[in-house]
Amino acid sequence: MPTMTGTTCLVTGATSGIGKETALRLAALGATMILPARDAARGEAAKAEIQARAPHARVEVMTADLSSLSQVRELAARVRARHDRLDVLVNNAGVISPRQPLTADGLEMTFATNHLGPFLLTSLLRDLLERAGGTGGYPVRSPGASSAPARVVTVASAVHKQVRAIPWDDLASGGRTEYAGQRQAYPLSKLANILFTAELARRLSGTGVTANCLHPGFVRTSLGRDVTGVAGVAGAIVPLILRMRPGPVAGARTPVYLASSPEVAGVTGGYFVKCRPAQPSALARDRQAAARMWALSEELTGLDAGR
Ligand SMILES: NC(=O)c1ccc[n+]([C@@H]2O[C@H](COP(=O)([O-])OP(=O)(O)OC[C@H]3O[C@@H](n4cnc5c(N)ncnc54)[C@H](OP(=O)(O)O)[C@@H]3O)[C@@H](O)[C@H]2O)c1
Repeated sequence: MPTMTGTTCLVTGATSGIGKETALRLAALGATMILPARDAARGEAAKAEIQARAPHARVEVMTADLSSLSQVRELAARVRARHDRLDVLVNNAGVISPRQPLTADGLEMTFATNHLGPFLLTSLLRDLLERAGGTGGYPVRSPGASSAPARVVTVASAVHKQVRAIPWDDLASGGRTEYAGQRQAYPLSKLANILFTAELARRLSGTGVTANCLHPGFVRTSLGRDVTGVAGVAGAIVPLILRMRPGPVAGARTPVYLASSPEVAGVTGGYFVKCRPAQPSALARDRQAAARMWALSEELTGLDAGR
């Protein structure tokens, strides 16, 4: 068992499902946890549950809606004001959002929450991660491993394989074409998670920070609860199938493994399923697509203009 005592880990979407179990496991390993939550009461409830199950856990809740670029910026500023290093960032929060198609920024909701929010947050916390990675990372009590790099772990999904082509001109607004019909929005956002990880790993090369992503398995959580009606004809299958699946404990295994195991201390740019490297779709392995997704994401979040 690795120890994460002395480390600081941020897990998004820890108010339920896979994120809550992941946060609980990392807290139980000794990490100080930062949990952003869009609803403060749900954040405090998750904190209480984690501390009830891991009594010595240190948990800090910060309110932020990850679909809002300004709130992501405020969150990053609050993290930076309180912490000078970040050992692990788990980008886990996710939605399938057919009912609320656009964010306050006018961006397609599922893409903004699942990809642009994590992209911006990771970018704004990059130097804190590099500081943790550059100092040799956190100690790992395991034979043959004396230190571990800082890690970015992004929860993607096997449904990325449904995407045959990326509608580049339509990604931001969900412009009411095929993509907007929600059948594509969620798989596209998960494809973006994998492309983001590949490009991030490339850009972080030599910094002491790794970036990996994963499919957690299809597990029973609250995901897909908003999928109803016409928009949900295809999507409604998701919650139905999930009802018969194992719970979030199973889904947390691979994120916890990537966040804490000495076995993957030096591994970067990978896509994992059941704690093993796996091959994502050909599109997810396309380096040009990864670079283009990065550039578009910089533009849409305002990072290209230094904002
Ligand atoms: N369940 C599966 O079978 C499955 C399969 C493949 C991939 N995944 C991925 O696993 C991740 C976790 O999903 P889950 O299955 O555990 O679903 P879940 O139980 O619905 O949890 C989603 C989490 O994301 C948070 N969240 C959603 N929108 C947010 C926003 N705008 N700002 C801040 N937080 C937000 C939710 O907060 P609230 O409590 O406020 O709603 C919740 O904590 C997602 O990235 C999903 O795509 C899940």
